[in-house]
Amino acid sequence: LAGRPLAGVRVLLTAGPTREPLDPVRYLGNRSSGRMGYALATALSDLGAQVTLISGPTALPMPPVAESIQVETALDMHGAVMARAADCDLFVATAAVADYRPADPADSKIKKDATGLTLHLVRNPDILAEVAALTPAPFTVGFAAETDRVEDYARGKLAAKRLDMIAANLVGGATGGFERDDNALMVFWPNGRRDLPMMDKRQLARELAALIAERYRERHAA
Ligand code: PMT
Repeated sequence: LAGRPLAGVRVLLTAGPTREPLDPVRYLGNRSSGRMGYALATALSDLGAQVTLISGPTALPMPPVAESIQVETALDMHGAVMARAADCDLFVATAAVADYRPADPADSKIKKDATGLTLHLVRNPDILAEVAALTPAPFTVGFAAETDRVEDYARGKLAAKRLDMIAANLVGGATGGFERDDNALMVFWPNGRRDLPMMDKRQLARELAALIAERYRERHAA
């Protein structure tokens, strides 16, 4: 297993943003570039894993993974993940999934009027929480993107969604997070933590992948 601690392990990984259509020409989106998720897909493949990458729209070339599926909306991503989740050993949710979608996207372009526009949004399914609640559940790794109180919110998500691990990052600031080449992560699991300082996302992904492999092997040795 040296060098390939995830040989034969089936990984399902989400990456990138989702787009929630308002009408045929507009959508609600977010700033995820896909860089963190694509780098992690590559790093997990390099450790021997058989990776299926489910990605929202990005400008990046597909990394060399076993299988890749492109989706647009949170509902598409939910469908693609749930169709495969029972057949994976490890699930990693790097995608920035929209929590809400327009309730009733218009069939033709919305026209402007003099006053304004009120959008009615409805909740999207929480893909990560649904996968973590499966029986049996795969080893489940979530992310937490926060603009403040990173540790509190991340520990809250780890416990509430009963995850095996969560990688938290500060977003919306001058460094790290969305759209950049560098990032830093605080990684928590039920009995431990590791801080990975600011570095290139490809290197950060290799360190996180090694940590995931360590925790995964420990679980499966037990
Ligand atoms: O793509 P980059 O530009 O490289 O940026 C990387 C990143 C900042 C997007 C990434 O590091 C990151 O933090 N990804 C998670 C973004 C996010 O949506 O975090 P959240 O705290 O809102 O969600 C918590 C977790 O639940 C995430 O694992 C998310 O994938 C998952 N989720 C959220 C909502 C939802 N409806 N379904 C989900 O599965």
